[in-house]
Amino acid sequence: MKLGMHTLTQRRGLLFGGDYNPEQWPEEVWAQDAALMRDAGVNLVTVGVFSWARLEPEPGKRDFGWLDRLLELMAAHDIGVDLATPTASPPPWLGHRWPETLPVDEHGHTLWYGARNQFCPSSSVYWERSLDLVTALADRYAGHPALAMWHVGNEYGQVCFCDASAAAFRSWLRERYGGLDGLNEAWGTTFWSQGYSDWEEVLPPRAAPYIVNPSQRLDWRRFCSDQMLAHFRAQRDVLRARTPGVPVTTNFMGLFKGIDSWAWAEEEDVVANDCYPEPGDPLTPARTALTHDLMRGLAKGRPWLLMEQATSAVNWRPHNLPKPPGQFRLESLQALARGADGLCYFQWRASRFGAERFHAAMVPHAGPETRLHRAVREHGRELRRLSGVAGTEVPARVAMMFGWESWWALEERGRPSDRLNADEQLLRYYVPFFERGVAVDVVPPGADLDAYALVVVPNLFLVSDEQAAGLDAYVRRGGVLVVGPFSGVADPRAHIRIGRFPAPLREVLGASGEEWQPVGEPVRCRWQGGAEFTADTWTELLAAEGAEVVAEYASGGLAGLPAVTRHRHGDGLAWYVGTMPEPAALAALAERVLADAGVTGVLPALPPGVEAVRRGEVLFVLNHGTDTVRVELPERADDLLTGATAEGSVTLAPREVAALVPTGGAAG
Ligand code: GLA
Repeated sequence: MKLGMHTLTQRRGLLFGGDYNPEQWPEEVWAQDAALMRDAGVNLVTVGVFSWARLEPEPGKRDFGWLDRLLELMAAHDIGVDLATPTASPPPWLGHRWPETLPVDEHGHTLWYGARNQFCPSSSVYWERSLDLVTALADRYAGHPALAMWHVGNEYGQVCFCDASAAAFRSWLRERYGGLDGLNEAWGTTFWSQGYSDWEEVLPPRAAPYIVNPSQRLDWRRFCSDQMLAHFRAQRDVLRARTPGVPVTTNFMGLFKGIDSWAWAEEEDVVANDCYPEPGDPLTPARTALTHDLMRGLAKGRPWLLMEQATSAVNWRPHNLPKPPGQFRLESLQALARGADGLCYFQWRASRFGAERFHAAMVPHAGPETRLHRAVREHGRELRRLSGVAGTEVPARVAMMFGWESWWALEERGRPSDRLNADEQLLRYYVPFFERGVAVDVVPPGADLDAYALVVVPNLFLVSDEQAAGLDAYVRRGGVLVVGPFSGVADPRAHIRIGRFPAPLREVLGASGEEWQPVGEPVRCRWQGGAEFTADTWTELLAAEGAEVVAEYASGGLAGLPAVTRHRHGDGLAWYVGTMPEPAALAALAERVLADAGVTGVLPALPPGVEAVRRGEVLFVLNHGTDTVRVELPERADDLLTGATAEGSVTLAPREVAALVPTGGAAG
C-alpha cells in the first residue's frame, strides 16, 4: 500500500503537535519542551523548516550536531519528527555570493534576504545547493527512530521573473508546443502584433504598459506551478531513495492560487494543509469546512494532515483578533471531522524575536501555566478518546468541481466582470450544502463522477472537450448536474469557444446563451411557482433549447427570459444557473437539486450555526454559533468526548462539539 497518513497513525494514533523551532532556544529549554510535549500528548513535531543557516552556516560547512541532539531527545520521548528540508529560506550567504538565486519580481526588482522565501525556483545554484543539503540530511537521519515524515520546503508559492526563469519558461513552452508556430497559435499572438519570431523573444509576463496576453499568463501560471513542483519532486526523490518507508509531504495553503494543488497532491505521500480561519467573518465555518473537504479531495478521500493552525491570534493580519476559549479546539475538531488524522499548530513555543513574535503558539510567552496552554494540554489528551476515528473516511454523494487552470484563466484582466471569482463562487454554492449537513467532496475537472448522485460545477470557465464530454456522459448515465454561470466559455488555451455558450455543454444543458450581462444593481427573478428572489452581479441572455425554465428574470432588460433551467438528458438531469442568486435562493435551489438526486443531510434539521458531518461511524456535531442549541438526533448516541449518552437530542453550548456513536457502537 502507498505510504500515507496510516504510515504515521498506525504507530502513533491521531497526531497532535506543531512546528518546533529549537534553534530559537537554548538547549535547557528543549528538555522542558520535551517534557511539556509528552504531558500534552504531542506525538509529532515539525523541525527544521527554517534551519538552513544553522545547518550550513557557511557554504559547504555543515553543523548537524544540534539537530542530532534534538532528534535524540525527541526519540527518547517517543515524539515523531516531521523533519523539514530547510529550502524555503536560504541563508544570506547564498543570496550574497550568488545573487542570481534571489527572486526578481515582475518589475525587475530583486527581492532580498532578510525575510524568507528569497529563492528563484529556476536558479541552478539554488537547486544544487538545496539538493546537496537535502541529500546530507537524508543520509544522516535515514533510519533514525525519531524520523516520522519528511516536510519538503514550506508553503511553496515563490514566483520569479528573472532571466533564468525566462529560459526555463521557454524550455517548458517548447516541450508543450514544439515550435514557435504552435506557441503563436496558442497565445493568439496575431492580436496586438505580438507574434514571436525567435524563442529568445519569449518572456515571462513581466510588467507591461497595458493588459498582458491572457494565454501567456495562463501558461506562465502553469509553468510556475510545474517548476516549483519539479523542485519538490527532486527533493522527494532524494529522500525516497534513502528512506523509502518515510512519507514525504509539503504544506498547502488551502485555496491558494499559486500552485495547482491537484497536480501536486499526486506527487505527495501525505496531503497537508495550513489553515488560519478568518475570525469575525460569518462565513468562516463554511469556508474552513470547504478547505478541509478540498484537502480530503486532494488526498482522494483518504486522511490528510492539518499541518499548521493557530491556537489564537496570528501576527500577519492588520488587526489580529485572539480566539476565545474553546475556539481552537472547535476548529481542530472540525478538521478531524472532515478527514484530518493529525492536528498540528504553528507553533509549539511562541518566538521571542523575529517577524512572528506576536503569533500565538501552544506555549505562550507567559509560559505553560496559562489558560491557553492548559487548553492545549486538555485538547491533546482528549484526542485519545477519538483514536478510533483514525483512518476512517467521510462518505459523500455530492461532488463540487474545482480546477486551478480554470481559476487562473477566469481571473485575468479584461473580462466582463472582476466580481465573478472562482473561489467565491465555489463557496457560494458550498454554503447551503454545509448548512444542511450534506457532505461534499471537492473533485478536479475530469474526475470520475460515478460515485456521486449530484455534481455541482459552480464555475468552470475553462473546460477541455474531454472534461465537457465527461459531464455529459455523467448526466446521460443518470447523474444530476448543476452548472453555474460563465462556464464552458474558454478552451485550454484560454481562447473563447465560438458559438452560443456554453458551447461544449449546450447539449447536456438544453440551454444556451449569446450575451454575458453583468449588472450594477441586483435584479429580481421569479421561480416558476411565482415566488421572487434577487440575483446580483451577473446575468446572461439565455434561451431554453429543450430545458424547462425553472426561474426567469422579473426585472431589467432580461425580464421574461430564463435565469435557471433544468434539462432531462439521457437518464439524468442538468441544471444551468446563469446568474448569482441570493443565498436564500441558492439554498432553495440546493434543496431542489438534492431532491432530484435523492440525497439528504446527516441529520434531518440543523439549527443555524451548527455543522454536522459523519466520519466513519462517528457523527460530529459542532456549534459555531453564539447561542446554546439543541440538536435532535434520530437515535440514542454516546458522546465520545464527554462520555454522556444523548437521548433523542444533544445540547451544545457555543463552540461545543459532540462526537456521537450509536449507543453500543465500537468507535473510540
Ligand atoms: C504558515 C507558515 C509558518 C508561519 C505561519 C504563520 O503556516 O508555514 O512558517 O509563518 O504561517 O501563521
